[in-house]
Amino acid sequence: MSGDIVLEADNLARSYPIYRGAFAKPLTLKALDGASFTLSRKKTLAIVGESGCGKSTLARVVTMIEPPTSGELLIGGMNVTTAGRAALRALRPKVQIVFQNPYGSLNPRQRIGAALEEPLLVNTKLPAAERRDRAIAMMQAVGLRPEHYDRYPHMFSGGQRQRIAIARALMLDPEILVLDEPVSALDVSIQAQVLNVLGGLQERMNLAFLFISHDLSVVRHIADDVMVMYLGRPVEHGPREAIFAHPQHPYTRALLSATPVADPERKKERIVLKGELPSPIAPPTGCPFHPRCPLAFERCSVERPQLLPSRGVMVACHAVEEGRAEATPVVAG
Ligand SMILES: Nc1ncnc2c1ncn2[C@@H]1O[C@H](COP(=O)(O)OP(=O)(O)OP(=O)(O)O)[C@@H](O)[C@H]1O
Ligand code: SF4
Ligand SMILES: [Mg+2]
Repeated sequence: MSGDIVLEADNLARSYPIYRGAFAKPLTLKALDGASFTLSRKKTLAIVGESGCGKSTLARVVTMIEPPTSGELLIGGMNVTTAGRAALRALRPKVQIVFQNPYGSLNPRQRIGAALEEPLLVNTKLPAAERRDRAIAMMQAVGLRPEHYDRYPHMFSGGQRQRIAIARALMLDPEILVLDEPVSALDVSIQAQVLNVLGGLQERMNLAFLFISHDLSVVRHIADDVMVMYLGRPVEHGPREAIFAHPQHPYTRALLSATPVADPERKKERIVLKGELPSPIAPPTGCPFHPRCPLAFERCSVERPQLLPSRGVMVACHAVEEGRAEATPVVAG
């Protein structure tokens, strides 16, 4: 691993058995079906895609909440998939997660100070005074005041609660922060404040972010790299500028067309995708996007496209590979 890379995922997959009664063989749902990427210090990889495409499953695997079904995960150079218990215990504090709803991770009967000190109490031998100092310093780092120390979660606004969840996730000085829709439940004005706090902390604490969001206008602001997923698979992956300025995969183009643009002069062509998201239990043959794809042709229903380099990013699309995507607008007019 190069010096700045803190995590390497190679073909990570996670499936779940779907039971259909005592005598039927369980079906397999491939929630995550082969994702490869790296995370680097002070960099943000954004994961985008519709509901059910496997974003949270990826978050749980990266955070070691669940093991991958196949593929490899290296954190700090250590192979998580083959690591023993002691090694895993040492690795866990390095990767922390913040969820969309901080109520889920905050105990309503626990004061904020105690909530922040808990990870230190469990994982370190620091004396009480030192734990308190660190909790208060972290509260200030996320924009809370020392007098908030003795308050309970219900006494805070949604934005403040999310700051508390971020502070708690950072108490053990992790290297990687997984953020699963961290601002999606907040008002737009509050979103910007929380994103600013995150940006400052990333810089100061050398953090690598895996930032999950369905909101491309947020991703446009914070991501260095973007990975677009469809039915558990990455379909386009590369630097943010390249993907926003020149999206190549028809699915990325459709997602972007639905995002408001800052420039009112630029004509927006809204691409409406045909049909529903198919079930991941029985994904379509060939390219799983083909039943909804405006560019689909014969090859698409029989052969699964692989991620291949194209114009500085990786794209899984036969039309891009054959040069058809450029010639055919995804939407007319
Ligand atoms: N424990 C589980 N058992 C069975 N299926 C699961 C399990 N967890 C997730 N799934 C399925 O895996 C697929 C991916 O789910 P996941 O929660 O990762 O999607 P997501 O992209 O995070 O969606 P959202 O944007 O709604 O949060 C979905 O079809 C989901 O129903
Ligand atoms: S491979 Fe075919 S169906 Fe899939 S995105 Fe490309 S053109 Fe569309
Ligand atoms: Mg999710």
